[in-house]
Amino acid sequence: MNFIELMSGAYKPLTHKTRTIMVMNSKGGSGKTTLATNLASYYASRAKLVLLADFDPQSSSLAWLAARPEENPPIRGLAAWRDMLWVPQEIDTVVMDVAAGVRDRRLARLLRRAQTIIIPVLPSALDIRAATDFIGELLSIHSKSRLAPKIAVVANRVRENTRAFETLGEFLEGLDLPFLTSLRDSQNYISAAERGVGIFEMRPASVATDLEQWDPLLKWLRSKRSKAVPS
Ligand SMILES: Nc1ncnc2c1ncn2[C@@H]1O[C@H](COP(=O)(O)OP(=O)(O)OP(=O)(O)O)[C@@H](O)[C@H]1O
Ligand SMILES: [Mg+2]
Repeated sequence: MNFIELMSGAYKPLTHKTRTIMVMNSKGGSGKTTLATNLASYYASRAKLVLLADFDPQSSSLAWLAARPEENPPIRGLAAWRDMLWVPQEIDTVVMDVAAGVRDRRLARLLRRAQTIIIPVLPSALDIRAATDFIGELLSIHSKSRLAPKIAVVANRVRENTRAFETLGEFLEGLDLPFLTSLRDSQNYISAAERGVGIFEMRPASVATDLEQWDPLLKWLRSKRSKAVPS
């Protein structure tokens, strides 16, 4: 972005009129980039004009975008760990991929930018404990914020019949936070990641189970319950 583009009004600051979804978790490798890129793919495949803002200097989301085939609906990328979050004028949906380990004041600053926060959690005791602590931290920042984003949790890389999430489920229920769905461990996510597409852009017959598992998450994202409203 340069000064001329700014002056010509080609960019806009982020306001509540833009749909903003942030994927975060303090723990590495929980599926933040997988969720962020698949969400970007979902909205792009529904004719939304999507900006994928990568807040992680590892830049995995932007690497995914670089591999994206030209014939797929375009998604714009932003190196948000480095550049200011100026959103191109035409964009209506911003998906943000946040690095692991962001805490304290940086976390508080980030939270002001999203209507919705999705936290992917892996089915291990360590991951679940870390997620519990992280959600506690989010909520403590949250309670001081004027525009408190709505938070939901998604289990990721779940193999069948895992009971690991029972305690997390109870914890979330106590906080009145939705535990939306469990996404299975699937080669589909790995091949989508390599090809710069999402499961929404793959042959429906090969991703039918995955699409079904995404359904509760997408439904919640469409509902008002997932959107923070300015007070
Ligand atoms: N449901 C899934 N099924 C199979 N593989 C998965 C699934 N979710 C994530 N993965 C794989 O697990 C690895 C870590 O996932 P991902 O990069 O999305 O995590 P992350 O939270 O963004 O990690 P980081 O903290 O390093 O940014 C990747 O190789 C990804 O392809
Ligand atoms: Mg990542």
